[in-house]
Amino acid sequence: MKLGAIVLAAGKSTRMKTAVPKVLHRLAGKAMIEYALEAVQPLSSLPPVVVIGYQGEEVRKAIGEHAQFALQEPQLGTAHAVLQAQPLLQGKVDTVVITYADMPLIRPQTLHNLWQVQQTNSGPLSLLTLKSTDSRGFGRILRNQHGKIQAIIEEAVASPEQLAIQELNVGIYCVQADWLWEALPRISISPKGEYFLTDLVELAVKDGLEVKTVPLADPSEAIGINHRLHLAEAEAVLRRRINQHWMLEGVTLIDPESTYIEAEVVIGQDTIVYPNTYLQGRTTIGAGCTIGPNTIVRDAQIGDRCQVYFSVVEKAILEEEVDVGPYAHLRKGAHLAKGVHMGNFGEVKNSYLGPGTKMGHFSYIGDATIGKGVNIGAGTITCNYDGEKKNPTEIGEEVFIGSDTMLVAPVKVGKGARTGAGAVVTKDIPPYSLAVGVPARVIRKLKEGNG
Ligand code: UD1
Ligand code: CA
Repeated sequence: MKLGAIVLAAGKSTRMKTAVPKVLHRLAGKAMIEYALEAVQPLSSLPPVVVIGYQGEEVRKAIGEHAQFALQEPQLGTAHAVLQAQPLLQGKVDTVVITYADMPLIRPQTLHNLWQVQQTNSGPLSLLTLKSTDSRGFGRILRNQHGKIQAIIEEAVASPEQLAIQELNVGIYCVQADWLWEALPRISISPKGEYFLTDLVELAVKDGLEVKTVPLADPSEAIGINHRLHLAEAEAVLRRRINQHWMLEGVTLIDPESTYIEAEVVIGQDTIVYPNTYLQGRTTIGAGCTIGPNTIVRDAQIGDRCQVYFSVVEKAILEEEVDVGPYAHLRKGAHLAKGVHMGNFGEVKNSYLGPGTKMGHFSYIGDATIGKGVNIGAGTITCNYDGEKKNPTEIGEEVFIGSDTMLVAPVKVGKGARTGAGAVVTKDIPPYSLAVGVPARVIRKLKEGNG
């Protein structure tokens, strides 16, 4: 059986009160709709069809290649939305799964189960239901005296007895494609002026065909996002899922409730994450690290056995056994080789620090290449910006930069050289020489190997 997926995303989301398309709001660092796309992805080799409408172009642009798009204009209800996908799927698939872009917590496994149930169904339709006392505005499942599903009644038009029903329509369906295309045009317009996809149930029953229901075991999967309260609720569920995953993979979270790990982050075994830590974007963290407390790591790669605390690390690379913090800021292009120590109040941007190099206190290193075993004294600054452009600094191996040295770039400090405290280096310093003063002058040659 070949399956196609339809993800509905055309509706206007008035209650979200937003200028951004609702389905592009982020959850654990990813657009809401990405979760819906990932949930259907394992089911089908065909790219899912996303039905767009309101702010559709923005949604299309954000998703790009990994989906096909059908435009629904105007938005005349969920059945009308599905109809827009027909030209893209008819003749190509024999089963269709229909989900919503604003239901990001549905698990791939749940959709797979639904599909398996539909494979055993002699009739054309299977759907997810939820038993809950909190109706969330969902449609109610109507059954006959034999317990057979007869119809779905929308909350807005339900009678008081119907409103009391605690079996709800999740809004996710698996449908035989040929029957779907034939049935959709038979749905009549509601008094609200919309075509309700939920009417498929009644149509199938009238056709004398079997409709199967699959109960959703975990109610959190059915959280649909209509406004910001739902957004926060979904974020909390996702955070818990992600944190549980990493704990079961061997990561210690001292306080999972205050640990914020985004969906794409990868963490190695025996790493310990302290509270109030944010691991974001495409961050990877190795094994045996200690991260946090009070740390943000975004789009960074951190190797094994590193320690980062009270610090901000963005788009940086840390090799193994690097220790950073407290109060360090690593910015784009910072690359700290094995064993680098970076203490308090340091900032590194677009620079390489060689193995074992130490910058303990109050320094700014930008656009610099620094060799191994260098000591960067307290208060060292690379003056990389001349008001027009950024200029490079090169520091050789085993250099000793004295406290409060200003390196006025472009400038080079040769292997094994030293600067005196307060030196303002405006010209290159040859290897194994000591330069002092303002501007710095070489006053002495140093013996090789003396450091
Ligand atoms: C729908 C179901 C309801 C179910 C609930 C679960 C119908 C008629 N009702 O109600 O039984 O309990 O979902 O969340 O289907 N959309 C379009 N085009 C449209 C209208 C909607 O693409 O013209 C999309 C929306 O963007 C959204 C989804 O369909 O992703 C659901 O639409 P919404 O208006 O929220 O339906 P509900 O009233 O919640
Ligand atoms: Ca909804």
